[in-house]
Amino acid sequence: MKIISISSAKGGVSKTSVSINLAQAYANRNKKVLCIDFDHNNNCTDFFLRDTAVEAIEERNLYHVLTNRKRIEDCIFHTYLSVDVLPATPILSRIEVELARDPGALLRFPTLVRSLDYDYVVIDTPPSISFALTAALYTCDVVISPVSWSRWTIQGYSLLKEECDRASQGSGTNIQLFALPSMVTDSECEKLKAVDIWKSTFSYISRNLSIKNSGTSGSPLKSGSISWKQFEVLAEEFQ
Ligand SMILES: Nc1ncnc2c1ncn2[C@@H]1O[C@H](COP(=O)(O)OP(=O)(O)OP(=O)(O)O)[C@@H](O)[C@H]1O
Ligand SMILES: [Mg+2]
Repeated sequence: MKIISISSAKGGVSKTSVSINLAQAYANRNKKVLCIDFDHNNNCTDFFLRDTAVEAIEERNLYHVLTNRKRIEDCIFHTYLSVDVLPATPILSRIEVELARDPGALLRFPTLVRSLDYDYVVIDTPPSISFALTAALYTCDVVISPVSWSRWTIQGYSLLKEECDRASQGSGTNIQLFALPSMVTDSECEKLKAVDIWKSTFSYISRNLSIKNSGTSGSPLKSGSISWKQFEVLAEEFQ
């Protein structure tokens, strides 16, 4: 099992779009994939479960697993896109206070995830240094951080790197952190790849309206399209 967290201390950098499309790229390769939504703003949940009743998602989701109320297996939904989802709802924001005094949850959750039968687990995370982000970092092997051409990119990345180092120490693992140029033009991509404070991925994701439209409509990227191929390359790089 490979567990990949898509994370950034910055908002709106395409974490959710990358999570959704990378998970589907693995599923396209006939791999068993679980997507975990660690963001209480639950855009990832909404993409995969837009036809599922709110009440059903409220009844079984990540909050219940983290707070030991329900079994992880009972909170996972199967979707028509062949990606299983452990969803989030706004109540997930409560873990920031409820679990602050239960650091054992940081160690319990990765054990639960690793007991499941998946080839890949993709985790979408919130744009903040938070208990939710820490829990995702404790769980994963690899962090892919979407970086775009903006003034605050370096600061956001540096904050995330510190959190990865802390989580590696706390969990006794060695989390690998990569910067993925995302929502970029070709020239922005080249400039980002040349930045020497991070290890950049070979893959990149161009700014492309089809990714935005896919997120809005809830339908997958067109098979064979430029964006679809870029996520295939990303899946290949992290296979
Ligand atoms: N490669 C892309 N090309 C064009 N638009 C994109 C691309 N990736 C993401 N977007 C759009 O940019 C916006 C932000 O993307 P997304 O929600 O994935 O970011 P995020 O980092 O998850 O945001 P948040 O921090 O709010 O969770 C969305 O409207 C999305 O459709
Ligand atoms: Mg998001």
